[in-house]
Amino acid sequence: MKPNLRPANPSFSSGPCAKRPGWTLEALKGALLGRSHRAKPGRAKLKEVVDRSRAILGMPKDWRLAIVPASDTGAVEMALWSLLGARGVDLLAWEVFGEGWATDVEKQLKLKDLRVLRAPYGQIPDLATVDWDRDVVFPWNGTTSGAKIPNGDWIKSDRKGLAICDATSAVFAMDLPWAKLDVVTWSWQKVLGGEAAHGMLALSPRAVERLETYKPAWPLPKIFRLTSKGKFAEGIFQEETINTPSMLAVEDAIDGLKWAEGIGGLAGLRRRSEANLAAITAWVAKTKWIEFLVADPKIRSSTSVCLKVTDPWFLALAPDAQRAQIKRIEALLDAEGVAYDIAGHRDAPPGLRIWCGSTVETSDVEALLPWLDWAFAEIRRAAAA
Ligand SMILES: Cc1ncc(COP(=O)(O)O)c(C=O)c1O
Repeated sequence: MKPNLRPANPSFSSGPCAKRPGWTLEALKGALLGRSHRAKPGRAKLKEVVDRSRAILGMPKDWRLAIVPASDTGAVEMALWSLLGARGVDLLAWEVFGEGWATDVEKQLKLKDLRVLRAPYGQIPDLATVDWDRDVVFPWNGTTSGAKIPNGDWIKSDRKGLAICDATSAVFAMDLPWAKLDVVTWSWQKVLGGEAAHGMLALSPRAVERLETYKPAWPLPKIFRLTSKGKFAEGIFQEETINTPSMLAVEDAIDGLKWAEGIGGLAGLRRRSEANLAAITAWVAKTKWIEFLVADPKIRSSTSVCLKVTDPWFLALAPDAQRAQIKRIEALLDAEGVAYDIAGHRDAPPGLRIWCGSTVETSDVEALLPWLDWAFAEIRRAAAA
């Protein structure tokens, strides 16, 4: 039987993620369109994004924060290309995005003194094996496996290397230990439901010091350059963006930040995401055909919740056939207008991925769950027919 109730918002994609509750195009009516981002009111808008982000996140005063091109990827690449090479590098990879940074450092930067510390899907590498004399690159939350770093206890306070953290699917939903980090990056289209294309790059004083004392051996395109004539390019971190941002996307980012303030800031955002995970946890506990991809609750993400089908019929299928069945679940729920984009990432083991970031309403997650049971019963029945 089809459930009666549908989620009010069927957007469960892991990026771009659901807009904040109540969002309409009206939210953009104050956008500074057709004006220069370098004019006084344009700069004020950019500063508003930076200042509100810093305040909500409790970022230390001596950190720099900039809006940069090319989304989270742009921010991470700027950091990798500008900072790495001064020391050996430890890179943590347990899913698609960490692997992507590993490929970059190995094949593009061609760093010889590189260790990639890997873990299979559902786990994270042994954090005790990280060497803090080296620079360390890691995602805080592995979006495609749903495994996250549990805390900053493993990061040495007196480290010699830099802690370079891709936090795009963690920031605003999880606490980040700023004192233990040196570079933090994110985009707007994840936890706050903003628009894609722009990245945020946050640098600790130690990261700035590296920029001022180390020059990479490779050429840097303008879009990656964080120094000018050997000096730290402070202006980029004072709203003088490298190139032109979308003032429409900027307005939307401000809207998301104001919404976040209205629901209690970081604590409110975190509570919403954790409540969403709790709703799924209760359902998984009573549901036979499914489990979390991440067995250990300490490293289980509250934003990108990844699930694996454990039904014996499904497990007996070849991987391609499993993927095809997952696609059928996704298509059934899409056709019902119940859930969009919930198949796991194409490079992850076949399964479901349900975005549970802070813009997603717990009532919508709860409304979705009986539909998952329905869709699974449907594909099971079709396979038996
Ligand atoms: C952990 C992580 N890193 C990087 C990216 C790439 O982000 P963007 O598309 O904003 O460049 C994503 C996107 O989902 C991600 O989840």
